[in-house]
Amino acid sequence: MIRINEHYLKLQASYLFSDIARRISAFQKNNPDRDIIKLGIGDVTRALPPACIEAFHAAVDEMRVENTFKGYGPEQGYAFLREAIAEYDFRKRGADISADEIFVSDGAKCDTGNIQEIFATDISIAIPDPVYPVYLDTNVMAGRTGVFKDGRYENIVYLDGTAENGFIPDLPAEPVDLIYLCFPNNPTGAVAGKEVLAKWVEYARKNKALILFDAAYEAFIRDEEIPHSIYEIDGAKEVAIEFRSYSKTAGFTGTRCAYTVVPKTCTAYTSGGERHFLHSLWNRRHSTKFNGVSYPVQKAAAAIYGEEGRDQVKALIEYYMENAGLIRKEMIDLGYSCVGGIHSPYIWINGKTDSWEFFDHLLNEAGVVCTPGAGFGKCGEGYIRISAFNSHENVRMAMDRIRKTI
Ligand code: MLT
Repeated sequence: MIRINEHYLKLQASYLFSDIARRISAFQKNNPDRDIIKLGIGDVTRALPPACIEAFHAAVDEMRVENTFKGYGPEQGYAFLREAIAEYDFRKRGADISADEIFVSDGAKCDTGNIQEIFATDISIAIPDPVYPVYLDTNVMAGRTGVFKDGRYENIVYLDGTAENGFIPDLPAEPVDLIYLCFPNNPTGAVAGKEVLAKWVEYARKNKALILFDAAYEAFIRDEEIPHSIYEIDGAKEVAIEFRSYSKTAGFTGTRCAYTVVPKTCTAYTSGGERHFLHSLWNRRHSTKFNGVSYPVQKAAAAIYGEEGRDQVKALIEYYMENAGLIRKEMIDLGYSCVGGIHSPYIWINGKTDSWEFFDHLLNEAGVVCTPGAGFGKCGEGYIRISAFNSHENVRMAMDRIRKTI
């Protein structure tokens, strides 16, 4: 008899953003004449930077000529991209990461979701609340949690992010083996300075734990003092894996390219206490289950590191951050307390009411889609997240409409 992975039955009905998409479709079906402005899922709206398009086209042209055509590429990514990443994203910021510690992939969602496969099932895990739901859901699927009770899964150490701690969770009171961190945080937009990250690195070193650091939004950091990478912290290379993405940075949500850094010194242990390098485990997993990102897409991604590409990406980020500034200002003017939107494209708003109720209010009354904070965890209840990813015109219109309904 074929049997299912029963851990899936513990999951909440559907993935947050699929749930929202379903509510939008239902609304559209019932209100075919209403026009909707989407500030929910962080999906970019601006076109790819011209430098990426040029490189993309040139790479496609290479594919039509036999002597430049590419078949299977290296699963870990082409050297031209891995070298550029190591140089511009890390060494230029004083983080000593080499090209062969970088694994190019098709998304940080897949990588943050898949990485847990290389760890034992019975480890203890700390996950921030609120946070990007993929970390929790993929551990539920893998059977690392108990059942869902009173808004939380058993066997998870939740790291509460609240207005009181500035949405920067404290260290766990009990020892844990695996820690997920996300800075700039999705959904709150909170950022962690060097001291905060150093505290986590010290904790991981002391407890033989590992940090999974999701830095998908690092490009939105505007203060030079705030680290973009956990490897800017001494000692992090032994205890942290980092995830990056081109989705929000360079408009690649539909093009798909990201990468994960697994330093060669990063270790974990067998139940007998024998030390193992995670680089070789992840390499084994990656090359067994993944065939690499397509050559033209990697060429398009590499163009981001050229002079023109760098300027164009900067302009793209500035564009969205103008929206973030406007949303923040408008919501504050309307009497809401907000965080985020300064080093992040997300504005985290205390809606002073049930998250889904506020979501429904904005959808029904203003035709504006946001993300209910409760979808990111129990601590998100009462909040909504508004995304800055849309055109200036749409964001202005959305804010006008919201103002009229409040
Ligand atoms: C979000 O809106 O939180 C993100 O777009 C989701 C994702 O990157 O998968």
